[in-house]
Amino acid sequence: MENQDWIYSETVKEHFLNPRNYLMGDESAFDYDAVGQVGNPVCGDQMRMYIKVTDGKISDIRWKTYGCASAIASTSALSELAKGKTLDEALKIDAEAIDDYLGKLPKHKFHCSVLGHDALREAIEKYRTSQPGSAKS
Ligand code: FES
Repeated sequence: MENQDWIYSETVKEHFLNPRNYLMGDESAFDYDAVGQVGNPVCGDQMRMYIKVTDGKISDIRWKTYGCASAIASTSALSELAKGKTLDEALKIDAEAIDDYLGKLPKHKFHCSVLGHDALREAIEKYRTSQPGSAKS
């Protein structure tokens, strides 16, 4: 393994040290419409993503995790990218987009960026199925 594989970009470090949209305290402090929770099959870490939806767009977003520094930085970036997007637009923010935004994660930490994305996808799916007229509601 090359040394480069262990280097975090300045953007990763900045988002890890100052995570955006992190849910401080109890989840009752955030008025959300849906929550998604997933576990990372690679490492067993957990992620919860809370979304507030207004006029079909993610008007606000919070998250909590037991994940690592890469998961924290990745989900911080994802939350910034997703805010203000329609649900379909938010679903298109994939691990590669997060990786690009952060200036690349070390390759062996790429799986950490999937955690927030999967939790967001589940939150959106739950939101949609909870809406009146949904085929699954
Ligand atoms: S090692 Fe578990 S999310 Fe990064």
